[in-house]
Amino acid sequence: MSDKPWSGRFSEDTNKLVEAFTASIDIDKRLYSYDIAGSIAHAKMLSKNSIITAEESELLVHGLEEIKKEIEEGVFTFKISLEDIHMHIESRLFEKIGKTAHKLHTARSRNDQVALDVRMYLREETKNISYLLIALRKIFVDLANKYIDVILPGYTHLQRAQVILFSHYLMAYYEMFTRDYVRIKESLKRTNVMPLGSAALAGTTYPIDRKYTASLLNFPEISANSIDAVSDRDFIIEFISIASMTMVHLSRISEELILWSSSEFKFIDLPDAFATGSSIMPQKKNPDVAELVRGKSGRVFGNLMAILTIMKSLPLAYNRDMQEDKNTLFDTVDTLKGCLEVYIAMLPNIKVNKEKMFNATEKGYLNATDLADYLVCKGMPFREAHGCVGKAVSYGIDKNKELNELSFEELKAFSNLIEEDIFNILTAEEMINRRKTFGATSKQNVISSIKEAYRQIEKDF
Ligand code: ARG
Repeated sequence: MSDKPWSGRFSEDTNKLVEAFTASIDIDKRLYSYDIAGSIAHAKMLSKNSIITAEESELLVHGLEEIKKEIEEGVFTFKISLEDIHMHIESRLFEKIGKTAHKLHTARSRNDQVALDVRMYLREETKNISYLLIALRKIFVDLANKYIDVILPGYTHLQRAQVILFSHYLMAYYEMFTRDYVRIKESLKRTNVMPLGSAALAGTTYPIDRKYTASLLNFPEISANSIDAVSDRDFIIEFISIASMTMVHLSRISEELILWSSSEFKFIDLPDAFATGSSIMPQKKNPDVAELVRGKSGRVFGNLMAILTIMKSLPLAYNRDMQEDKNTLFDTVDTLKGCLEVYIAMLPNIKVNKEKMFNATEKGYLNATDLADYLVCKGMPFREAHGCVGKAVSYGIDKNKELNELSFEELKAFSNLIEEDIFNILTAEEMINRRKTFGATSKQNVISSIKEAYRQIEKDF
């Protein structure tokens, strides 16, 4: 005879292929602790509202607690025929306490049960990921503080553009990961809503107390519509889209770490403990960690496409398609946490090659804008100044000299407005520190944003 709780209306045993095909236990067993916590709260609520007796509730709760131990001790048997974690736990409960076990599913369906489990899982992981994001943000601020004076070329189109402080560049990542942090914290409000009591889709005829169950499970809110509650996976889509954004940011810094550790740049040196070698080329030190983080962003974006596609045409309410939500969610959580953890460990240990960075600012006419701005200050309209400096750059390219390497006479030939004070203006420190408007790269600005960031991080922790 079938061991399935739904086998009543069936005259044949389930085909073995179908059993294996529909089972999700390998994936959803990781929800066991939430499933058990949800069931315990549900049993307590049922007895409080006299739907079952206090003795029955105690028996259920005790049995569930024992099952939790069995799973944690690795003595629990999982089998494909029991489909998912919900049926496994219920069936084991029956083995342990007999018929009373069958009262647990009163006023409940697997549809609201699975929605509850996933929400409980995700709210916990959301908190874990928020902490990892705070830790990562702090690392960027610490690095900015440590390398406050280091100067490097800023790039646009990957061409040298203008000089910037390395600390300002690091704080740009602080801003990105702070937005990610705010987004993920915000999303918790929508995940942290209790669906239990919606039953299959229409609610239930029993006099349940959903708010009581919610209070036992620490949910600040209960879902307002039973159909929505069992159909909704927006909270998963939202989480994976936030995770995707974070992966974009991680992937962009990965790209820079890879590029900057190449022999062509040599701006940084990755710690040996976080690099790998080649099986054939003895000289190689490869940035595999950064490459994998960059590559894993593709996985997470794939998960986002998968969950969007799974959900997009589903009629209300629950459809079995939705069982596929868990692969996308679990894989995203694991991947994102893995990437954050490895960067939290690696980034503080990168070596920064200040000389290489600074030397790179000395070639490439990074001070052209500043020469134009100088002319504008002396009364020349900006477009005219742009043209004038363009000619000076072209002349410099011919002579193989930077603007600051031209003699005063050579410079003066491009405009009478140029005076001896120009040479001071064209130094890297001066170009950086004259950019003092809010958000710009001057050292004073970066120092204030570092202070502000530490204040913010303290509040967030
Ligand atoms: N394993 C299922 C899932 O993950 C649980 C819900 C099953 N509900 C149902 N009516 N078959 O979605």
